[in-house]
Amino acid sequence: MVVDKDFVISEVDPRIYGSFIEQLGRAVYGGIYEPGHPTSDENGFRKDVINLVKQLQVPIIRYPGGNMVSAYNWEDGVGPKEDRPRRLELAWRVTETNQVGTNEFIDWSKEVGAEAMMAVNLGTRGIDAARSLLEYCNHPGGTYWSELRKQHGYEQPHNIKTWCLGNEMDGPWQIGQKTAYEYGRLAAETGKAMRQVDPTIELVSCGSSGSGMPTFPEWEATTLEHTYEFADYISLHQYYGNRENDTANYLASSLDMENFIHTVIATCDYIKAKKRSKKTMYLSFDEWNVWFHSNDQDEKMEPWSIAPPQLEDVYTFEDALLVGTMLNTLLKHSDRVKIACMAQLVNVIAPIMTETGGGIWKQTIFYPYYYTSVYGRGKALNPIIKSPKYDSKDFTDVPYLDSSVIYNEENDELVIFVVNRHLENTMEVDVDIRSFESYKVMEHVVLENENAKAVNTIEKEQVMPHKRGVSNVDNGKLSAILPKMSWNMIRLK
Ligand code: AHR
Repeated sequence: MVVDKDFVISEVDPRIYGSFIEQLGRAVYGGIYEPGHPTSDENGFRKDVINLVKQLQVPIIRYPGGNMVSAYNWEDGVGPKEDRPRRLELAWRVTETNQVGTNEFIDWSKEVGAEAMMAVNLGTRGIDAARSLLEYCNHPGGTYWSELRKQHGYEQPHNIKTWCLGNEMDGPWQIGQKTAYEYGRLAAETGKAMRQVDPTIELVSCGSSGSGMPTFPEWEATTLEHTYEFADYISLHQYYGNRENDTANYLASSLDMENFIHTVIATCDYIKAKKRSKKTMYLSFDEWNVWFHSNDQDEKMEPWSIAPPQLEDVYTFEDALLVGTMLNTLLKHSDRVKIACMAQLVNVIAPIMTETGGGIWKQTIFYPYYYTSVYGRGKALNPIIKSPKYDSKDFTDVPYLDSSVIYNEENDELVIFVVNRHLENTMEVDVDIRSFESYKVMEHVVLENENAKAVNTIEKEQVMPHKRGVSNVDNGKLSAILPKMSWNMIRLK
């Protein structure tokens, strides 16, 4: 590898380490909120969860959905809790008690030190519900909705800056699915009205629900024709899974993510050119993760229960490796990807798991997310990489070595995140760090395991990082040993 101070991709927007809490499964009830739990505070928020979320330093959290938002009446979730209606929640076929809603989420996000990213319902509702929610949240006072917020105990506006115009509106599973034309028009008019209420907000236009959607990328081209003027970001969503138990192929999935990002950028820039616009559209990769372990289990679920365990994937060691490469991919595109949300944060396809009424533990994927979020702040540098490659079922020329590099000028640190995808061989890496000649290795953290399928449970964390990585700087050259199938963070100063 060659790493140079001058090969700057971009200053990383910290919101690239965002996450997501949907009113779904045990993310909220039994996850972040559990009145009566031994660790809960006076608002019913679990402090054990708050502590772990704070450790992750999550800067922005998307809410309340996801699919759930597309049939959600936000008014059900505000005001006295005893008056809130129980509703059939259609996306996940459960009963929603509405004991947590917008205000509680804002309280909680403040406690964990995150900004909220709010989604509006463009499935069953539209302009009117979106503008009243925004008025309720952001208008200082003197109007119906802003005064109602004050009556509910929130004198000061929440000032939520980032708003998603619906969720996955291209998906046949979405309540109120739209064609690209229908969505584009509705999103543009909703965005226009919302900007009238609060011109300082940022808006995210819905992109495709994944790179495999049959309407991708025509969906982006058509919707952006309408929303380009109003939106600041277009969303991308993508989940992967090792369904065929082919680890080499699975670990190459971040190449698909990269291709997805390239195509969305190309489509945005095509619309920019077509519109003779000076504005650049940025990307909000506001759902990304591994999701497949729990699929069969969820299909057997009885409908209409309250906060059942749903989407509770138990992650393996190999999932953590893939997550490491997905984070690298986001960083390598940080010139255009300004927001990204690991989906999700607690219990639902999450790095943090709880037992309702019990303890808490870290999934395997917690670790690459934690280290990249905490140490991946600063300028992303473009590493020049020469690596041996392999072919897998769906990919050709997959580099065994996958890396992203951060130069944190403030702390005077160079941080190299690197994955060895090789299933059998250790890799020796030589890094020419020419412009960081005087730097020495401070720590080399390694996540490795003999068993690709090793998992963490509340009883036992089998997958945990250690700091015994072997790396050394000599004469402006860093040499490092990367164990087979390993995620590494090498921090130099
Ligand atoms: O994160 C789980 C679900 O995945 C979200 O509700 C939806 O937007 C996506 O399909």
